[in-house]
Amino acid sequence: MVPPRVEVFDGPGDVGARVADLVAATVEARPDAVLGLPTGGTPGPVYAELVRRSAAGEIDLRRVRVFLLDEYVGLGRSHPRSYRATIARELTDAVGVPDDAVRGPVTDGDLDTACRAYDDAVRAAGGVDLQLLGIGRNGHIAFNEPGTPFELTTHTAVLSEPTRRDNARFFTDPAEVPTLAVTQGPALILEARRLVLVATGAAKADAVAAALEGPVSPECPASVIRRHPDAVVVLDRAAAGRLRPAPTPR
Ligand code: PGA
Repeated sequence: MVPPRVEVFDGPGDVGARVADLVAATVEARPDAVLGLPTGGTPGPVYAELVRRSAAGEIDLRRVRVFLLDEYVGLGRSHPRSYRATIARELTDAVGVPDDAVRGPVTDGDLDTACRAYDDAVRAAGGVDLQLLGIGRNGHIAFNEPGTPFELTTHTAVLSEPTRRDNARFFTDPAEVPTLAVTQGPALILEARRLVLVATGAAKADAVAAALEGPVSPECPASVIRRHPDAVVVLDRAAAGRLRPAPTPR
């Protein structure tokens, strides 16, 4: 196993700029690159920086194709908290990615059929060139909660209560947080050509340490990235705070 490359920066803004550089390198090499994208708080500075660079003419994202990492079940794609609506608002509309170039798991109708269709769609596009990942405080990636078998591709996931509580901040009524999601599973995530796991803030420090220094085990889903030959972990100083020895910020 090749250990992930770990890069540490002072704060979330520097992390956002570094991850934007990694996206830019991918898109310069391949203007119609397939990007695998998460939503949530962590990618906010990344997307803000990509929108800024796009407006300044420094990057052209108009030909990329996007596959979302996951999607809630029960909201519908037009719901403002759906991940499909969120990525359009935070990134893809602003940088000119056409609507039909952005795909997320379908979450109505028969979910098993939808899961297989999503695997097929990702693979038919040639696979993901660059997959961005966040990490949950419990070590989840996408909605793969602790205990999820590494062999799973796209599947239906039951959200853990800690994850629902963490995500309640995006909803006016916490009871509105869905209990189910369709998510890429660890095996599909590992098919991407490059993984970039991003974490900021002290609340993520234990999960980051477990992922990078604990056992590679479904008990810490993010640890699966250590099975990938090209994984980069971009952290701010706070999220790196429990790594031993603490890496020196750049
Ligand atoms: P966050 O979520 O970026 O909102 O902290 C990360 C995750 O749960 O994967």
